Amino acid sequence: MRITSIIVLFSLYSTIINAAPTAVPTLEKRQETEQDPGFNTNIFDSFKPLEVTASPITREYTLKLAKAELAPDGFSRIVLISNGRYPGPMIRANKGDQIVIHVKNNLNDFTTIHWHGIFQKGTTFYDGVAGLTQCLIPTGTTFTYNFTGGEQYGTYWWHSNFGSQYVDGLAGPLIIHDPKDPYLNDYDEEFVMTLSDWHHVYSEKLVKIRMTPGYKGFNPVPNSGLISGRGRCDCSKAPQGSKCVPDNPLAVYVVEKGKRYRFRIINIGAEAPFTFSIDQHPLRIIEVEGENVKPVTLNKINIAVGQRYSVIVNADKEVNNFWIRATIVKQCIHVSPETINVNSSLNYMVTGTLRYNGAPDAYPTTQEWEEKVLNCRDVDHNLLKLNPPRPPPANPTDNFTFRITFDDFDSVGHALVNGFPFKPELEDPTVNKMMYDTTPSMLKQNQNAFVYDTQNGVVEISIINENMATHPFHFVTYIITIINHSSPIL
Ligand SMILES: *[C@@H]1O[C@H](CO)[C@@H](O)[C@H](O)[C@H]1NC(C)=O
Ligand SMILES: *[C@@H]1O[C@H](CO)[C@@H](O)[C@H](O)[C@H]1NC(C)=O
Ligand SMILES: *[C@@H]1O[C@H](CO)[C@@H](O)[C@H](O)[C@H]1NC(C)=O
Ligand SMILES: *[C@@H]1O[C@H](CO)[C@@H](O)[C@H](O)[C@H]1NC(C)=O
Repeated sequence: MRITSIIVLFSLYSTIINAAPTAVPTLEKRQETEQDPGFNTNIFDSFKPLEVTASPITREYTLKLAKAELAPDGFSRIVLISNGRYPGPMIRANKGDQIVIHVKNNLNDFTTIHWHGIFQKGTTFYDGVAGLTQCLIPTGTTFTYNFTGGEQYGTYWWHSNFGSQYVDGLAGPLIIHDPKDPYLNDYDEEFVMTLSDWHHVYSEKLVKIRMTPGYKGFNPVPNSGLISGRGRCDCSKAPQGSKCVPDNPLAVYVVEKGKRYRFRIINIGAEAPFTFSIDQHPLRIIEVEGENVKPVTLNKINIAVGQRYSVIVNADKEVNNFWIRATIVKQCIHVSPETINVNSSLNYMVTGTLRYNGAPDAYPTTQEWEEKVLNCRDVDHNLLKLNPPRPPPANPTDNFTFRITFDDFDSVGHALVNGFPFKPELEDPTVNKMMYDTTPSMLKQNQNAFVYDTQNGVVEISIINENMATHPFHFVTYIITIINHSSPIL
């Protein structure tokens, strides 16, 4: 078994956010509530930035969560839908706007919704993590989230943060437009695109098997991959009696020759990283997860779960069809004979079409870019330079080390941080505990709390991955800077 050991040092600093209160737009002149007209549009429609208002406004949305039979890859199953669709609708705001979202839960199950990447400064209780920042939203009720991105801009996403629910469909894009975006003149229109691995079995069932004491396999192997909720599975391998329609329609993005498009690409999947490319169309990266970067042009980029990239695609080729390729990186999907769905007929080559307006309604015949990218690795951090630059703070005041292992805990395989898995306490969330009489030192070890109380402090975190699998890490509420990482040991 190969062991990949990656040491990543992060500097996580609250100074930036704390030190600049004057930069936060004032909201005293809030205008009338406005529902973004693009909210319920088709994910394959292009859009333009929102109109700029004189001062930040409140944008109010309603997410109606329900269950329905859908066949994203041709195979019919129960999918968790939002406003009738999967992926869910795109929530948008301008920088500084107040975002109010009414979550109407008709799932016949509990839920919470997390706004992935939003710092929730001052509104931790709206972060939407079940058992950490809030109690569960019961079915038949509406819970209203209300937050602002403050100075944040860029590409985010929202998803259920209860159990593995988002894997069954509860996810969608969340975009914050910056009226002063330095790249506004570099593109004519925008698209949003989601990538996801997809299972035919309800994720709760998969997790149940995965978490059975003595289970020897790896994580379940997906049945297909989806681009913006569309993919194709091998119906000949579908179980007897199931409903499966072959040749399911794939994702098609229609562009006008001569225009430049900002694609906001989000991996909303469960586990699989994708290698993304569009035949003959280089990708000019301008934003990575809510941070503008100096433009860097690559033909292929790896996108792990939770990651987002904005790339500019220039429709400057002949009027034709071109493959969009989101290849599931096979080397990152570990299997053993005991693994759930080990004999999946998964087609790792997930595709869609970039169609120039006027081209025939036909599949592309284009060739993939020849270059290779390093499997299971991020885009080379050395290529990505923040714009404007922001040097990391010089002096950390605190430090933590996270040692990541996958091991049995109470006879069940878990991801562990320094030997412990996080255990959400659904009826007494961590944040609620802290509001009352609990001090950090009183928290149980399975709360995995790392505590510092240095005013305007800078925390240095070393993450040591002792496991063979790759793991994206996601820090809520902080600006982080990667200050060093070891070279991968392959
Ligand atoms: C949202 O929060 C703002 C700021 O705290 C508050 O003024 C407003 O009344 C809230 N709106 C709703 C619908 O809760
Ligand atoms: C998967 O396929 C192999 C080889 O055909 C077979 O031996 C094995 O029993 C299958 N496993 C499952 C779980 O169906
Ligand atoms: C981490 O913090 C401890 C306690 O404050 C200190 O003794 C140690 O030198 C620090 N280590 C690093 C690598 O900064
Ligand atoms: C960065 O990490 C590498 C590999 O662990 C190490 O050799 C190097 O000294 C580190 N550089 C700094 C500036 O910490």
